[in-house]
Amino acid sequence: MSRYVVAKVEDLPPGERKVVPVGGKGGIGVFNINGEFYALKNMCPHKGGPLCQGRLRPHIVSSETYQVKYERDNEIIKCSWHQWEFDIKTGVALYDSRLRVRTYPVTVEKDEIILHLES
Ligand code: FES
Repeated sequence: MSRYVVAKVEDLPPGERKVVPVGGKGGIGVFNINGEFYALKNMCPHKGGPLCQGRLRPHIVSSETYQVKYERDNEIIKCSWHQWEFDIKTGVALYDSRLRVRTYPVTVEKDEIILHLES
């Protein structure tokens, strides 16, 4: 497994992301969600759009008509090409859990965010 230094922790605050040019075409997006780091391949499994450059969204749930609740703010990424949505923490598509985008392990070591890639 190889390591890639993404940034200093202070340079990627909560709610921010950074796309790094590793892991093949499109690179990998690294996200800070409330102080925890997650990484997704920057290629949408639908038609290959730049998924990690889409809008960050909450998870919107509805238990009955006209009742809408917003949960997990900024934990969902919406692809800008055709609006498919994915859970950043797991890579799973919201509307069909059989679909997912590749995820990668991320750690913090000595104030640096480290992305771990298979060699
Ligand atoms: S390419 Fe991402 S939703 Fe179509």
